[in-house]
This record gives sequence, C-alpha cells and structure tokens, in this order.
Amino acid sequence: MGANPMHKLSYGLFVVTSEEYEKDNGCITNTVGQVTSSPNRISVTVNKDNLTHDFIRDTGRFTVSIISESADFELFRHFGFRSGRECDKFDGFTDCRRAENGTMIVTKGTNAYLCGSVCQSYDLGTHTMFIADVTESGMIADERSATYEYYLSNIKPKPKAVGETPDGQTIWRCTICGYEYVGEELPEDFICPLCKHPASDFEKIVKGTAVPETVPAGVTPEGKTVWRCTVCGYEYEGDELPEDFVCPLCGVPASEFEKV
Ligand SMILES: Cc1cc2nc3c(=O)[nH]c(=O)nc-3n(C[C@H](O)[C@H](O)[C@H](O)COP(=O)(O)O)c2cc1C
Repeated sequence: MGANPMHKLSYGLFVVTSEEYEKDNGCITNTVGQVTSSPNRISVTVNKDNLTHDFIRDTGRFTVSIISESADFELFRHFGFRSGRECDKFDGFTDCRRAENGTMIVTKGTNAYLCGSVCQSYDLGTHTMFIADVTESGMIADERSATYEYYLSNIKPKPKAVGETPDGQTIWRCTICGYEYVGEELPEDFICPLCKHPASDFEKIVKGTAVPETVPAGVTPEGKTVWRCTVCGYEYEGDELPEDFVCPLCGVPASEFEKV
C-alpha cells in the first residue's frame, strides 16, 4: 500500500492550446474539469512558468483537446516536455485544425475538444486557475479518454532499470515523467524541471550495491559503455552513441547525453 493517494484521483489528460501574436502554443495538463453545467463552465489550472499560461492570461481564449487511449508518447513529448518559449510546437505539426476562437484543436490521439472563454481567474501561487465558458465543442474520435493512470501504465515509457553505482547512492525519480534527482534528500519544495510536479510525486530509489572491482564505472558487467541522458536519466548501452540518437523518454538529441 505504498501508493500515493493523490494518484487515485481520476485525472484526465489534455492538450491545452492558446494563441497570441499569431503564435500557436499548447501544453499537456491533467487539470481540466467541469465546474458548472448551467452555464457550462470548465476550469484549467496552468503553471505560471508555461508559455500557454501567459497566452491564456493575455487573450482569455483556449482550447482543450481531450487525450484518448490511442495517444502515443510522442504527443506528450511534443507538448509536455519542452516549452514554447524555446521552440515552435506547431511548426510542421499537422495533426490539428483551428477552432472558431482562433486556437488550435489537436486532432490525433484525442477524442473531443472544448473551447473556453475565460470569465474568472484565480491566482494560486505557482499556478493560475482559469474558469471559462465553453463556447464551442465537438467530437473527434470514438475512443476512450486516457486517464492519468492509463498514461502511467500504458503510454509513458518505462525508465530503464537503475544501473549499478557506488554503494547506497540515492536517487529520487519523478513518477510522472521519469526525471531523476540524485541526492540523499529531496528538498520539500522541489519541482520537477521537466513536468513541474512537486516533490510528493517523487519516489526514492536506493541504487544497487557496489560495482564489482573489475568493472570500471560507466561500463556494464558485459563490458558495454553507458550513455546517460542529462535531461531525464535514460541510459543507453553501447560503445558508441549514434549521432542521430534521440532519447526515447524525453526526446532530446545525442548531444544531451554524457558518457558515465
Ligand atoms: C503527464 C503530464 C501532465 C502535466 N500536467 C500539467 C498540469 O496539470 N499543469 C501544468 O501547468 N503543466 C503540466 N504539465 C507540464 C507542461 O505540459 C510542460 O511544462 C510544458 O512543457 C509547458 O509548455 P509551454 O511552456 O509551451 O506552455 C504536465 C506534463 C505532463 C507530461
């Protein structure tokens, strides 16, 4: 019974999109819900660090595309593991069309959409909760909605087994996205730099026993070299890391890997 009670809440998953200065953007959230039915209103809670937050705050317009069980991890990587502050998430992205309110509907890996016009917002410190009238909605596919639990069990790639490291090294792994923090204690106010979830969503893992004396650190017992993704901790085994390698967990290129 070691599970986190917060993970028993039946969250859905959503791509929340907005548009400002003719730039489209969107991020993954698990925080959309209906708050009243008459008028038909929804809430979405977005971290203030997200570009999507600023677009919604400034324009009062957004679309929620409801993620279905057919979604693959690429959708989460594309919208949830990098910020529109550093890239254009809609450059070359074709699985979408524009809603009447001018924001994008994501049409693949989703089953329905709701467009919102913000009528109230609440400053929650790290996040803002936007309350919005549903101005337009529609079905996309006859598929089941993905719950957070479904995402964790079936969509998110399983992190590779923790490699052997010097005795007793402790790591804290984000149970949401797999990011690993190395350190004896995880600060209480720690926020996952990848998916922005708090310290309570991290699990403690004490790495294995001492590396056998004959095996140099960073080399597996079979003699292979280990390359570790400096962003999410994914480990690749092989003497050479292919130049065009892309991390299957968080999508960053070979240049973000270090030989350990
Ligand atoms: C499974 C998952 C759930 C997430 N849930 C939320 C959420 O509820 N609220 C939020 O603000 N960010 C959430 N995020 C993080 C944002 O999607 C992420 O920080 C994104 O890169 C922000 O992009 P932007 O800066 O382009 O808006 C989640 C990410 C993942 C992978």
